[in-house]
Amino acid sequence: PFVVTENCIKCKHTDCVEVCPVDCFHEGPNFLVIDPDECIDCTLCEPECPVGAIFPEEDVPAGQEVFIALNAELAKQWPVITVRKDPLPDHAEWDGKPNKLALLER
Ligand code: SF4
Ligand code: F3S
Repeated sequence: PFVVTENCIKCKHTDCVEVCPVDCFHEGPNFLVIDPDECIDCTLCEPECPVGAIFPEEDVPAGQEVFIALNAELAKQWPVITVRKDPLPDHAEWDGKPNKLALLER
């Protein structure tokens, strides 16, 4: 499956959700996740993310492996999102900032 990683946190552009043919994105307060049990590896979402936060599980950047389990865990808790919405207001300021995992809201 594909995995949403750290750079989505506090950006949450949501461009990714509209292309998913199986509606497997789930939305939290400042992050989205992909349900690994639903993702069919179609690859469509990866280029849609303006901040490059989506990777195939096998290509998740070093140090971000924790996001594989986080996507699986939070997808079971958060509601499905299928319609794009505005990104978080200060997304530009947070793009590329390190250590955003500590800021993930559940
Ligand atoms: Fe959805 Fe395809 Fe992205 Fe998987 S790879 S989350 S099926 S758009
Ligand atoms: Fe997040 Fe990128 Fe989607 S910032 S909400 S993974 S378009």
